Amino acid sequence: MARTESDGSGILVVDEDEEFLADAERLFEGGVTTVKSLADAQRAQESGNIDLVLLGPTFANENGVRDATFLVEDDSDLAVVVVAGAVGSSLLRAALRAGFVDVIEAPLDAGKVTEVMGHAKRLTKRRGAPTGPAEPFAGPRREARVITVMSAKGGSGKTVTATNLAVLLAKAHDPSRVCIVDADLQFGDVCLVLQLEPKLTIVNAAHEIANLDESLLESILTKHPSGLSVLAAPLEPAFADEVSTAAMTEIIGYLRRMFDYVVIDSASLLDELLLSLLERSDQVLCVVDMDLPSVKNAKLALETLRLLKFPSGKIQLVLNRSNAKARLDEGEIEQSLKMKISAAIPSDGMVPASVNEGRPVSESAPRSKVAKGFESVLKLVLGDEMSHSDRAGKRRWL
Ligand SMILES: Nc1ncnc2c1ncn2[C@@H]1O[C@H](COP(=O)(O)OP(=O)(O)OP(=O)(O)O)[C@@H](O)[C@H]1O
Ligand SMILES: [Mg+2]
Repeated sequence: MARTESDGSGILVVDEDEEFLADAERLFEGGVTTVKSLADAQRAQESGNIDLVLLGPTFANENGVRDATFLVEDDSDLAVVVVAGAVGSSLLRAALRAGFVDVIEAPLDAGKVTEVMGHAKRLTKRRGAPTGPAEPFAGPRREARVITVMSAKGGSGKTVTATNLAVLLAKAHDPSRVCIVDADLQFGDVCLVLQLEPKLTIVNAAHEIANLDESLLESILTKHPSGLSVLAAPLEPAFADEVSTAAMTEIIGYLRRMFDYVVIDSASLLDELLLSLLERSDQVLCVVDMDLPSVKNAKLALETLRLLKFPSGKIQLVLNRSNAKARLDEGEIEQSLKMKISAAIPSDGMVPASVNEGRPVSESAPRSKVAKGFESVLKLVLGDEMSHSDRAGKRRWL
């Protein structure tokens, strides 16, 4: 087992399982205190030298968390992290309500321990180490810009556009301030395209809607290696019904306060859910494929939005597979849709290859023509934001 860079002084590990304690001891260069009961943990804490407590799998349940709450009652600066065999939403909720800082999945390894040690501010302070990257939500607060990617026809390229846009926003801005939401509740594949295996999804957030707060929602998000956060779609189509439009609306409200950019990938259904997402969006990117059915459906969808008095200034057209050999040209599409095309993405075999590989082209081939197409979508978002909210041009990320 790889050891951590740091010794274990100031760290207390509590579990009934000797093997878990022995693994924890091996993980540190020495100095970690291990005890088998909460009574012994209390005695160790009274010594005054404990800054971080790792509660092992024996206590990783609601009763265990409740019994261990006394640890933080007398010492609110103490960081307590639960190490669980499986991280479920009820355990997460119990731990966060108790005032613990995190729940991580066993087994412990060097990477997880380093991450966990970052939570223990007192430990970092005592060791004189730099405090590390800013906490996810510690930056200057402003409401996120919400961008919904929609299309009126399936397979038009919403998911590749939304995922590439999110990855580019993460690169251009601060990845910890960017979130992508998979609102295609039946067949969402954002996680597939980003090669992520979510443990928790939007269904968990919907189940917890009455108790939801920013820290609980944060623990439900899945992190992409770039640092971008992902709110995953339900794992099975049957669970889609468990996410009501009201729950989705509330979740977007939380994300708006937690991030600077929230990109929403949607399903090709002009239903109550999509309308409510559009209503809450600052910008709507309507992806149109270079074929007749796609243009016809876009026309119908845009007309419906006009009838509903949806502000047309929020909508921009993104032409996908712009170089496809079709009998349509861009002028005809613009004329038919009564809108200008604002960004164009060429057709490229690299796109399906990137989907299969689980790495957006903007990451794997940033210089390719198709990646430049996605950059034109990014510029649309940053440019639109500049023109609406920052006319003085104070914030320039590109
Ligand atoms: N510019 C492009 N060049 C080549 N292939 C593309 C391009 N855009 C999308 N594709 C391919 O088309 C398929 C559909 O794309 P995507 O999944 O993004 O569409 P979607 O609108 O999200 O579909 P759905 O309605 O099923 O959610 C994918 O296999 C993708 O690789
Ligand atoms: Mg899709």
